[in-house]
Amino acid sequence: MTMRGQDREMKVEDRAFYGAYADELERVQELLISEIQKLLDSISTDSETAVAEHLKCRIKSAESMKEKLRRKNLPETPENGLKYLSDIVGARVVTHFVGDIYTVLELIEQDTCWKVQTVKDYIAEAKPNGYRSLHVILNVPFHVGGFDSVNVEIQMRTIAMDCWASLEHQLKYKKTIRNTALIVDELKRCADEMASTDLTMQTIRDMIQRS
Ligand code: GTP
Ligand code: MG
Repeated sequence: MTMRGQDREMKVEDRAFYGAYADELERVQELLISEIQKLLDSISTDSETAVAEHLKCRIKSAESMKEKLRRKNLPETPENGLKYLSDIVGARVVTHFVGDIYTVLELIEQDTCWKVQTVKDYIAEAKPNGYRSLHVILNVPFHVGGFDSVNVEIQMRTIAMDCWASLEHQLKYKKTIRNTALIVDELKRCADEMASTDLTMQTIRDMIQRS
């Protein structure tokens, strides 16, 4: 399994924005990644049977932080980020099979290292555009500045869901695309086909495990 993000240095402009909170946020990120890794290892340490294809973690960039605060009509300060946003620190677990997501969710819910705040299951109920993932917001009792805890977000998805989300994300930011309605329809169709393939793959795995 590959891990990315946790050893990446914060960019100069992000460090400037987060100021006094930067180091503490990096520690929250390390804590989050090591706790998730521990959960994943408790299922399997063997790469042949590992549930996660990869795990990555990031601290929200200053740019996207400011954009989100602006959208919420809040002054663009790191304090408001800590107070009102739940994804300054985020991790993504990409699994091979759909069932693995719910196995990991159960472990997350049993872990006393944090309190589960919300679970958004966009797999059971995909977004209208076809987006699928399971989002968990956790409250981690870690002091950051004057706050005695911080919310973090874990996104869990299969390789197929991750592949779709990454393509859709790229297309979303290309503002000059023509035939938008057709593209939206086609993307949705791809998402549904991939979800159907995910289910078939899960069925095949279950059959193999039983035999
Ligand atoms: P924001 O979308 O972050 O403002 O917050 P929200 O409260 O609406 O949360 P939501 O659960 O909708 O999404 C949070 C994150 O999930 C986003 O920042 C993305 O990383 C991811 N996400 C949600 N919807 C989509 C989507 O349609 N496409 C892609 N590629 N990613 C999405
Ligand atoms: Mg959203």
